[in-house]
Amino acid sequence: PVVKEIFGLANLEEKIRTAYGLCKVVVVPGDSETSPLTKKELGRAGAKALLSVMSGNDVVAVTGGTTLAEVAEHLTPPNVSLKQSWFVPARGGLGESLEIQANTIASGMAKRVGAGYRLLHVPDLLGKEAYESLVHDPNIHDIVEMIRGARIVIHGIGDAMEMARRRKLEDSVVEELQNQGALAESYGYYFDNNGVVVHKMLTLGLRLEDIMRTDHVVGIAGGKSKAKAIHAVLKFGQEDVLVTDEAAAEEIVREL
Ligand code: G3H
Repeated sequence: PVVKEIFGLANLEEKIRTAYGLCKVVVVPGDSETSPLTKKELGRAGAKALLSVMSGNDVVAVTGGTTLAEVAEHLTPPNVSLKQSWFVPARGGLGESLEIQANTIASGMAKRVGAGYRLLHVPDLLGKEAYESLVHDPNIHDIVEMIRGARIVIHGIGDAMEMARRRKLEDSVVEELQNQGALAESYGYYFDNNGVVVHKMLTLGLRLEDIMRTDHVVGIAGGKSKAKAIHAVLKFGQEDVLVTDEAAAEEIVREL
């Protein structure tokens, strides 16, 4: 039965990999939405996927969320020295609870693998005026430049409506997102079923053009209810590596 299970997961991995043209897909058994143990396995697999693309002299931009927090928990120092590498938050993230903010996760990851980190102390969601004044601050400018030049991006994927709620977006914006068919949120952008960006948050840090230039984009998300969101982000077409769970993978494959 073990062999069969492994074979089944390998089959799911390959179907998803070819359908979306990815370099690598990892599927862990179970449903991370209902099983904390599966969520940990997802984190462990995510940590392994991240280390496999690091070379020792990287800037890694990381997003927030409970899944990325699990990834950080499972990072262990690799054989190669990562002293010359840096972890940075993908964007400003004050607003989410501290444990799952990108700053917390970036610093946690760096400490675990012996790399450096820089933080970006700006809110998740900015008003136009605040954005304008922050973007010209020299200290913030430096770290934002570093984030935008990241070689690796590791990020979570959220259901659009759930993330809109978690980020406390105004009712009118939530309604607009619904009308636009937003299914996914990732790195501050909202995507529809075709992977088209329908909304972006005014936030400092990584932009879509930066994501397009990075060498490795690693997405980590699981749970049956995230299948549509994962599909939407994969359709956007910038993903290289996907780490997910069986529940989400089965649902994604069903829709292919
Ligand atoms: O942008 C996506 C979210 O950060 C995902 O959060 O891992 O807690 O579901 P989560």
